[in-house]
Amino acid sequence: MMSDRLQLLSDQWKDRVAEAVTFLQGRGFAGRVGLVLGSGLGNFADAVEDAVRIDYGDIPDFHSPTVAMHSGRMVCGQAAGVQVVVMQGRLHPYEGLPHDELLLPTAVLACLGIEVAVVTNAAGGLNRYYVPGDLMVIRDQIDLHLHDPLRGLLAEPMGSAEAAELGRRGGMADMFDPEPARKLVEAAARCGVPMHSGTYASMPGPAYEAKAEIGMLRRIGCDAVGMSTAPETVLLKRLGVTPVGLSCITNPARETGQPELSHADVVEVGAMVRDRMATLLLEFLPQLVRA
Ligand code: HPA
Repeated sequence: MMSDRLQLLSDQWKDRVAEAVTFLQGRGFAGRVGLVLGSGLGNFADAVEDAVRIDYGDIPDFHSPTVAMHSGRMVCGQAAGVQVVVMQGRLHPYEGLPHDELLLPTAVLACLGIEVAVVTNAAGGLNRYYVPGDLMVIRDQIDLHLHDPLRGLLAEPMGSAEAAELGRRGGMADMFDPEPARKLVEAAARCGVPMHSGTYASMPGPAYEAKAEIGMLRRIGCDAVGMSTAPETVLLKRLGVTPVGLSCITNPARETGQPELSHADVVEVGAMVRDRMATLLLEFLPQLVRA
């Protein structure tokens, strides 16, 4: 699987991804499920048993995230009996790195051979029914970075027969498979976690949205807004990994009466919901890998 997916990457990217993959495989990194933990949501990684943890800074070619409260490291081990590889902390487009740096950890995750990636984030709730502390399974996304995150990163940008075969669960039109999303909603019901399903808008940031932008996002049908995830899910999908998106609503995003928002506020509410999210993920993971 590693080599199949590596073949989909452009020549200038392939060797760097392969070097990090070989480094991690040499330390036992493998698993069926990958998880990406967003702002303030890293504590699921503490539930991983028999864990091997490696700081991003110690992995060839990885950058460490600059955002406060993101402790960048890869963790591999067992969670609820499932072998997982966790990216605890992510790089964001607004950190200003070129895309080959930004998406390198995601490509490495895919080339470690995972089948499914649960990609989490902190997000503002555009939907009026959402309150801070709720979770939202991502039904679809609108990528407002407005440039192709994979530019120059794939061997065949328009897709190849191999890519189509690897991504056989559908193309971009079916970015999020409804089956795992439904299992996530069911798992939330079983553990009493408030869960919605909706459309995620990925904005460039790092400033939070102006009121007019919030109005626009609501009118084009978005339920939650954040500054990550979409570039990663696009890459995962193209590499034949099934992405499952999960947003933690940390604040309301409102056109009127919007309080001034800071990263510290987002992280604080993230801390409140992260136990909830960890409980949910432990309930969900065994369902996800059931044949
Ligand atoms: N906007 C963008 N990103 C976010 C928000 C928000 O309101 N909350 C958490 N991340």
